[in-house]
Amino acid sequence: MPDKSNGYEEYAVEFMRRRNAVIGPNIVRGWAASFPPGAEILELACGHGVVTQLLVESGLTVSAVDASPTLLRAFSQRFPAIPTECAPAEDFTFFGRTFDGVVAWGLLFLLEEPAQRTILRKVGNALRPGGRFLFTAPHQECDWIDILTQKPSRSLGAAAYKQALYKAGMDVSHGVTDEGNNYYYFVTKSGS
Ligand SMILES: C[S@@+](CC[C@H](N)C(=O)[O-])C[C@H]1O[C@@H](n2cnc3c(N)ncnc32)[C@H](O)[C@@H]1O
Repeated sequence: MPDKSNGYEEYAVEFMRRRNAVIGPNIVRGWAASFPPGAEILELACGHGVVTQLLVESGLTVSAVDASPTLLRAFSQRFPAIPTECAPAEDFTFFGRTFDGVVAWGLLFLLEEPAQRTILRKVGNALRPGGRFLFTAPHQECDWIDILTQKPSRSLGAAAYKQALYKAGMDVSHGVTDEGNNYYYFVTKSGS
């Protein structure tokens, strides 16, 4: 079967060993704290659950998707009660429902531009009015090689993300950089 995880399935064990959980938790916790207890969150590219752990500790109800079977297996051992699907986010049906929030840490820039745009459109459809989306991608438009998988990555840059999000009914309220130099886009869907 062709790999849809952009190389992460092959390096899943190595990724779990290297993933630094002390990068970004305060930003994710702050975002999570802005939801009422039990709010329904979809995590795109959950990996083995580093971000999920923070969402669960914040009292949120999480559903998750990832394209790597190995990472998703580790995830389900850690969080057996969380509904999951093993699928590429760009082809995923979002469980056919809507959410209060969507988070995608370390995903968008792994994908080709059309797939990134597809995901942003789908997030816009899956968020409830006033719902929120948090994702990471460099602020500047750039291309680089993923240090783990050696595959190409690309950021469309803040202006292009903002425009694509706007077309999908969402607005970027602000952005923040963490200790590991990851840039976070804080996004809200219009309506209330
Ligand atoms: C940098 S890791 C981040 C994982 C997790 N969000 C975390 O914070 O540890 C990238 C993740 O994206 C997943 N991934 C790569 N391409 C994907 C795709 N097309 N759809 C869904 N997940 C994908 C990988 O399997 C991996 O879990």
